[in-house]
Amino acid sequence: MTVHLVGAGPGDPDLLTVRALRLLGLADVVVHDALVDEAVLRLVQPRAHIIDVGKRPGCGVPQIEINDLLVDFGRRYNCVVRLKGGDPYIFGRGGEEAIALTAAGVRCEVVPGVSSALAAPAAAGIPVTHRDVAVAVTVVTGHRRDGASPLDWSALARVGSTIVVLMGVAQRAAIAEGLIRGGLAASTPVAVIETATRRGQRVRRTTIAELASMDMKAPATIVIGAVAAYDLASFPVAGHAETLQPEIGQAEASARS
Ligand SMILES: C[S@@+](CC[C@H](N)C(=O)[O-])C[C@H]1O[C@@H](n2cnc3c(N)ncnc32)[C@H](O)[C@@H]1O
Repeated sequence: MTVHLVGAGPGDPDLLTVRALRLLGLADVVVHDALVDEAVLRLVQPRAHIIDVGKRPGCGVPQIEINDLLVDFGRRYNCVVRLKGGDPYIFGRGGEEAIALTAAGVRCEVVPGVSSALAAPAAAGIPVTHRDVAVAVTVVTGHRRDGASPLDWSALARVGSTIVVLMGVAQRAAIAEGLIRGGLAASTPVAVIETATRRGQRVRRTTIAELASMDMKAPATIVIGAVAAYDLASFPVAGHAETLQPEIGQAEASARS
């Protein structure tokens, strides 16, 4: 009896790990977040219970209730998959769930996923590190819990490498202001990638000075730094989520045999 904390990747089922795919074929219960793509959910074995606990603006199941649900399922079912967008340990509260499960004596395992922090830039043809241009990449959240200490944007500006912001749509003006105040040039390139790897993916380029006035929709990943101007080989955009479905089914069949 195990609860598997599984990363579902950024959306396109092609970016699932082999282990994630195998577990979707074995799960008795799948408890998933809002950002898990429909195309990924179609890979769950048909007899599994599928439960959506996704947080959406203005509603959602409180984290404590999700933890309790996982503990309960972990005691009753052989194979529970807690399916999270991207990687479970990158701003996914996977750590909180692992702590709750372990404290309750329920076995849990983490299956890393392809985080949007890396997949979204790749989908836009952006290498987040690039020799002589960006020797580091910092992944930050633009959204802080009420009362949490604010991020030190000036310190990030001083590092002078790539900054990848998740959950930054609502706070984009404050982020841009903090970075410019911290010394980042107003002309610093920025790329915004919405719904990366999914149908409707949209990539736009701007500068940090113009970020506040750019209209954008979540889920979006914001890339800040010289590499954001690059448009190299990119991950092919969705549409293939459906067309590759049979191939994924075959991969699953061979994983089980
Ligand atoms: C709660 S965080 C979870 C991140 C996830 N654990 C990961 O590793 O990708 C959600 C944020 O991830 C980013 N995100 C997730 N999926 C995305 C996608 N398909 N395209 C662009 N950004 C995405 C957005 O910034 C979104 O607000």
